[in-house]
Amino acid sequence: MVSVERMRWWHVAELLPIERELFTPESWSERLFWSELGQLDTRHYVVALAAGAVVGYAGLCDYPDEAWVQTIAVAPVAQGTGLGSRLLQELLAEADRRRQRVVSLEVRADNLPAHRLYERHGFTRTGVRRGYYPGGVDAWVLTRRS
Ligand SMILES: CC(C)(COP(=O)(O)OP(=O)(O)OC[C@H]1O[C@@H](n2cnc3c(N)ncnc32)[C@H](O)[C@@H]1OP(=O)(O)O)[C@@H](O)C(=O)NCCC(=O)NCCS
Repeated sequence: MVSVERMRWWHVAELLPIERELFTPESWSERLFWSELGQLDTRHYVVALAAGAVVGYAGLCDYPDEAWVQTIAVAPVAQGTGLGSRLLQELLAEADRRRQRVVSLEVRADNLPAHRLYERHGFTRTGVRRGYYPGGVDAWVLTRRS
């Protein structure tokens, strides 16, 4: 069984190998996660735990005029089991609690699993940043309005 709970400082070391595996060469450093966790008023980070081990995580930033999905990741062994959806729902619920009606994010144009996930949750494309990612891949800005 997988539980989703608030990310705490002791989860960071454990999630870093997943972060590197999924996001290299753009993976976040330990320092960056710590900085995010320190901004309690505007950030909401969660982890998914299976038998106590981190198998996924996600984070939201509460900007003045919209919320932003900072990151969402599921360890390869746990992908395709609905965990990505569960983590995203948790972020959307937090946006709701914070009375944010607009939630946006940035995603590589070629990241099909992520596009399917966001589409299922009502996100549509609202912008493109040409050549934003290494290798010249475009970033799509997706937005969900509730
Ligand atoms: C994008 C990402 C978070 C999605 O996570 P996930 O846990 O695989 O997503 P889900 O399981 O919720 O959905 C994926 C698929 O599994 C299916 N699924 C859901 N529950 C399932 C289950 N119990 N058994 C089998 N498949 C299931 C979903 O229907 C979905 O299929 P579809 O895309 O064909 O509709 C994950 O692929 C990931 O971490 N990618 C690398 C990091 C990344 O790109 N992050 C996003 C950056 S913007």
